[in-house]
Amino acid sequence: MATAREHPLADIDWAYLEFYVGNAKQAAHYYCSAFGFDQVAYAGPETGVRDRASYYLTQNKLRFVLTSSLRPDDAIAEHVRLHGDGIKDVAILVRDARAAYDAAVKAGAVSVAEPAERSDEFGRVITASIATYGETVHSLVQRDGYRGPFLPGFIETHKSLPGSRKPGLTHVDHCVGNVGWGEMDKWGDFYARTFGFSQLISFDDKDISTDYTALRSKVMTDERHRVKFPINEPAQGKKKSQIEEYLDFYHGAGVQHVAIATENIIETIDALKYNGVDFLETPDTYYDELEARVGKIDEAIQLLRERRILVDRDDRGYMLQIFTKPLQDRPTVFFEIIQRKGSLSFGKGNFKALFVAIEHEQERRGTL
Ligand code: FE2
Repeated sequence: MATAREHPLADIDWAYLEFYVGNAKQAAHYYCSAFGFDQVAYAGPETGVRDRASYYLTQNKLRFVLTSSLRPDDAIAEHVRLHGDGIKDVAILVRDARAAYDAAVKAGAVSVAEPAERSDEFGRVITASIATYGETVHSLVQRDGYRGPFLPGFIETHKSLPGSRKPGLTHVDHCVGNVGWGEMDKWGDFYARTFGFSQLISFDDKDISTDYTALRSKVMTDERHRVKFPINEPAQGKKKSQIEEYLDFYHGAGVQHVAIATENIIETIDALKYNGVDFLETPDTYYDELEARVGKIDEAIQLLRERRILVDRDDRGYMLQIFTKPLQDRPTVFFEIIQRKGSLSFGKGNFKALFVAIEHEQERRGTL
């Protein structure tokens, strides 16, 4: 029996997130101007790729790929038609893509693409893909010191937008999936079996419910708490759960939010707001009770109140977080901005305050 450290999916990290979108050229401009990414590589007709255009954006250790189909009826176009803009691939860096793929498939993962090697003058990359919830996939990426700007087939196109402020986003903290009624345990087991993950934490509908909405959640993680996958399922409430609203508009399971880390959330939020990013509101009363709930923190409560930043504490420390509004017209994918100060929390103490805010938005859309 292999120990956890010998598991081919033990020593992993985030590789990149690939979004399938209706218009990658314009989406790339949005993520650069609003979220401070630089466009560093491109693949499309000009580079010999006939069916799609992909823009590779980076910021510190964050790596996004925005891809659009150039055709009316291929898998990318169909994905966008059905789901709207969304995250197709939560790609994971592995030491050995073939071994990781073999282990995952042997443990029951559905194959999407068998291991394939691609190379150019910068070296070689081996990738394989497996399916997860909905139509989302995990590519397993072995870079072997590849020196090109992204993957073979991409050319360097360095471009940053001078007018926008750099928010200092550093890396992905966690990536959350919404799955259907009663499917949370199945997908939690999937990550335990195929990735060798363990459960970090779980919440039930008693923790996460307001008068109207409810959900259940469990967080699966690698042993170093680097790659964390919370999984949500809707629970019965008086009115429609926000998870159900997502499932309706995304037409199935998919990535609900990506939590992006920063080392100074106040400066980050100021920059993002300057760039035009919209965040969820939090009721003012939240701040009246904050210090009593989380105790002394480094940041002045007034600065958090002005920016609507949330705080939660566990036995290891505390964390600050705030959620954007949906990133596209469908109320589906959004970002969380998070600064951890020792805490491994996912914001359980904030769920109530947060959901009141989300329900207010649902009410405005007439979907509560
Ligand atoms: Fe989160």
